[in-house]
Amino acid sequence: MYVCLCKGVTDKTIRRAVDDGLSSMRELRQQYGVGTQCGCCNQCAKDIVKDAVAER
Ligand code: FES
Repeated sequence: MYVCLCKGVTDKTIRRAVDDGLSSMRELRQQYGVGTQCGCCNQCAKDIVKDAVAER
């Protein structure tokens, strides 16, 4: 499922990025641009990062 439509980033991409070492919304924003346009995806993306980090 797409989390960030503006940047075309899916939950799978976010989970994979966390598996590869990403650990915060700030890094997700810097590396994938998530939340840098309309901002609608911020809360959802944050929850997925948090969840994926906890499962790591
Ligand atoms: Fe992510 Fe718009 S949906 S910035």
